[in-house]
Amino acid sequence: MRRLLIAGNWKMHKGVAETTSFLESLLAEDLPPAVDVVCCPPFASLPAAAMMLAGAEVGLGAQNVHWEASGAFTGEVAAPMLAELGVGWVIVGHSERRTLFGETDATAVARARAAQAAGLEVIYCVGETLAERDQGATFAVLERQTSGLAELDPRRLALAYEPVWAIGTGRNASPEQAEEAHAFLRVRLAGAFGGGAAEGLRILYGGSLKPANARQLLALPDVDGGLIGGASLDLRSFSDIIRAAAARAAGVDS
Ligand code: 13P
Repeated sequence: MRRLLIAGNWKMHKGVAETTSFLESLLAEDLPPAVDVVCCPPFASLPAAAMMLAGAEVGLGAQNVHWEASGAFTGEVAAPMLAELGVGWVIVGHSERRTLFGETDATAVARARAAQAAGLEVIYCVGETLAERDQGATFAVLERQTSGLAELDPRRLALAYEPVWAIGTGRNASPEQAEEAHAFLRVRLAGAFGGGAAEGLRILYGGSLKPANARQLLALPDVDGGLIGGASLDLRSFSDIIRAAAARAAGVDS
């Protein structure tokens, strides 16, 4: 069975002081060893987080990365710089990057390649908007967004299915909607890397994942964890989601 991965995308929340106190409390929790846990603070908080998480079981991720290793790219951060800090993961292609900052499928693939070349694990985000879903275009969108996956290294890759209409809205995908999309993405992974590799790759669900719906969503056969925004900012709710994942890993259903 795939190890479940619970990743917190803090977005533009938590400076150094808040990052430090949150991670202190998280590390003091008795975290279940069966679940991989990653926190993705904003860039400015990464050095402090990296110091705290060095040697810890909790992984550290960034929320974006540039596709070049260095150069005249004002305001950007390169993958080798993240690796040097001790960052092990990076989120690529998040819908907020796509809608607010001009991310395209091509730039997302370029970022992911650069990250993997620097040894980072990539959480590659896809997902349709409400208009696209209403037009019946969900699978066409997911197909397009995953068309460059074959260029990536499956050994350092997780997908995240994040329906845009579920992000920050309190309205999560139903279990049927999530499983259908994840199963489709598994087929896309098989097309890119072969069936054996696809079976081993994790597909995270993201979009209003919270303690109240975590057990139901994390129980789905093709859901291998979560990428969590709002609920990852609060220690109690993040830890409850991690425990829901551990219960699934242990085959416990309550
Ligand atoms: P919410 O959990 O706040 O809906 O955000 C999801 C997300 O965008 C994670 O990347």
